[in-house]
Amino acid sequence: MRATTSIWLSSAPPSLGRPLAEGLDVDVAVLGGGISGITTALLCARDGATVAVLERETVAGTGGATGFTTAKASALQQTKLAQIRNLHGDEKTAAYAAAQLDALDLIEGLVERHAIDCGWQRLPDVTFALDRTQVDAVHAAQEAARAGGLAVHTTTPSPLPFEPPAAVQLDRQAIFDPVRYVRRLASLLVEEGGHVFDHTAVAQVHDGDPCRVVTAGGETVRAGAVVVCTNYPLLDRGAFFARMSAERSYVVAARVLDDPPAAMAISAGEPTRSIRPLLTDDRQRWVLIGGEGHPTGSSKATPERYKALERFARERFDVEEIPFRWSTQDGMPVDKLPYAGRYLPRSSRLFVNAGHQKWGMTNATAGARVVADLIAGRDSRFASLLDPNRVTLGAVPDAAKAQASAAAHLVGDRLTPAEASSAAEVPTGEARVVRSGRFGKVGVHRDDLGAVHAVSLRCTHLGCILHWNDAERSWDCPCHGSRFGIDGQLLTGPASKPLETVEAPQ
Ligand code: FES
Repeated sequence: MRATTSIWLSSAPPSLGRPLAEGLDVDVAVLGGGISGITTALLCARDGATVAVLERETVAGTGGATGFTTAKASALQQTKLAQIRNLHGDEKTAAYAAAQLDALDLIEGLVERHAIDCGWQRLPDVTFALDRTQVDAVHAAQEAARAGGLAVHTTTPSPLPFEPPAAVQLDRQAIFDPVRYVRRLASLLVEEGGHVFDHTAVAQVHDGDPCRVVTAGGETVRAGAVVVCTNYPLLDRGAFFARMSAERSYVVAARVLDDPPAAMAISAGEPTRSIRPLLTDDRQRWVLIGGEGHPTGSSKATPERYKALERFARERFDVEEIPFRWSTQDGMPVDKLPYAGRYLPRSSRLFVNAGHQKWGMTNATAGARVVADLIAGRDSRFASLLDPNRVTLGAVPDAAKAQASAAAHLVGDRLTPAEASSAAEVPTGEARVVRSGRFGKVGVHRDDLGAVHAVSLRCTHLGCILHWNDAERSWDCPCHGSRFGIDGQLLTGPASKPLETVEAPQ
């Protein structure tokens, strides 16, 4: 039976957080218990602050992205440096690359100092051309990396089990198990006096002195500073909704008969194929293949995404079996730089560390360093680079496009016709938008056992109409990426409330 959970979560030690049961006063409240939130909290605690992490689900668990990453920590990052160079120039490309290398050192320092058992391994990262159409992109990635001060070199012979038409390599990048790493950081935080609360959703955040964070359970955390470290910033301030899109991508884990490659790698364009070796403690050999990204809420969310990755795995590696597959979601800033710093230009108490654009291991860690520095009142080397309130003129057309797309979904999706007039027309294992008197249209899914699940299709975030995700069997929002289960349960923010369940139209 194939698992639709990540290989990390299938064998992870449990998260030890408990729900917040009563009000609390701290110096820093951190919203979100992924690598971003836990690293930020730990660095703040080591500056002497009292800290509480509030996580809607569990630390590095199924509610976020950390448990679903391939955990490649690299400064090369496919073609990201070329994109940054085009928009921001050589100086910022170099600063971005330096921030990634600094984050790698920070993670490695924590792993070594605390002997964290997370399979940390330095190895090369390769950006390669899957075919001739990607050769120019590899060359652009190479030039941008050189402009950014990285010691890249061409890769011959290839460390991959095939010879790509072009490839560029950066040595001494790293891979690790993200869940074991982050859950150990969380336990260190608790050992050092911090608080970690699982199953503690945040309902409201009030700026002030102190700030007040009110949980869905009605408890209040008063804090000198609040850091929003959720995958997509959950406060309806700061216009992040106009500056960041949400994208889903997919991973399969293949157990292989040969030694996995001695490098991680990623193709330089579409289709994206990310390759990451894994040798487990019991000497099992794995290759993780990722890719097939698309905007959240798109009709491309079909099981075919997994099949394409499995085909690639079987074509390029000696695959024994593919027992794991999973998907994930990333925040993608329009100007290709993450957001770490003050949530609003004049805010001295609200901070954000988000928008890690598929390279969250280093970007979340770099952002944690910036936010901890700002809260401690220190100068921070990468604060201006990652300033959430920057204006990037070159990205204005993309921001306008993202806004127009959200507006089109908000209005246009209401006008599209229903796909069925009653629940009886919904086939087993599928979903349809069904006409309904009171709601206009509702979402109806008939599960594999024939039971019918019906929900309102109005996203509880800002009201866009949800689309069916056939790969994950969820209702996804094309505007800012919120996702809901077949019975309306919240899977992914920025929404903070579940969908209304409704009676299926007969
Ligand atoms: Fe914003 Fe759905 S996530 S409207």
